[in-house]
Amino acid sequence: MNLPTDLRTKRLHLRRWRASDRQPFAQLNCDPQVVEFFSGPHSRPESDALADRIEAHFQQHGFAPWAVEIPGVTEFAGFIGLSIPRFEAAFTPCIEVGWRLAAEYWNQGYATEGARAAVDFAFRWIKAKEIVSFTVPANLRSRRVMKKLGMTRSAEDDFDHPFLPIGHPLRRHVLYRMKNPDGAPPPS
Ligand SMILES: CC(C)(COP(=O)(O)OP(=O)(O)OC[C@H]1O[C@@H](n2cnc3c(N)ncnc32)[C@H](O)[C@@H]1OP(=O)(O)O)[C@@H](O)C(=O)NCCC(=O)NCCS
Repeated sequence: MNLPTDLRTKRLHLRRWRASDRQPFAQLNCDPQVVEFFSGPHSRPESDALADRIEAHFQQHGFAPWAVEIPGVTEFAGFIGLSIPRFEAAFTPCIEVGWRLAAEYWNQGYATEGARAAVDFAFRWIKAKEIVSFTVPANLRSRRVMKKLGMTRSAEDDFDHPFLPIGHPLRRHVLYRMKNPDGAPPPS
């Protein structure tokens, strides 16, 4: 089945990445506000390497975190989309929904709006049985998006992120889940 390459919502265009996205992506990846809950700002090569991994994910799976365009506002605000985590945990293999936007576009409902379209894509097109999302307990903005999407958290699913060393202050993560509702209509 040919998967759609773009998703559109009322205000957003979730699209494949362009070379011109890399500079603003590198800029948001070194903004201390954006990376507050990551292990540190990304250098330009690290930011480009992440963009490369996202492109490879699209090539391999037909979906990935999409570049977010806000027509009439900006050509690139960050990413929202789906990925298959590269680590093993009690809840893997799975499909994760995630998001990262430049701070000037926060608190306008964009992440939730785009993530709803991404989750809908996962349920209708990929037929995912479940979607997960995870973050550090202190990332209340991200947890709020998970909650607004209708995802739920159980304390027994909390986990230590294997990419961070034992004792790292960001190692503990909370996991949110959402099951594919039965009877989702087929793609139109
Ligand atoms: C997480 C992120 C994508 C949210 O994007 P966004 O477009 O602002 O999200 P939304 O506007 O859809 O929702 C944000 C919610 O968080 C709430 N919020 C904002 N700041 C908050 C805070 N300090 N504490 C608690 N809630 C907060 C907002 O009020 C809003 O909830 P509401 O609609 O009930 O009022 C954005 O903050 C971001 O890119 N952060 C940095 C990267 C990141 O942490 N990514 C997630 C990694 S797991």
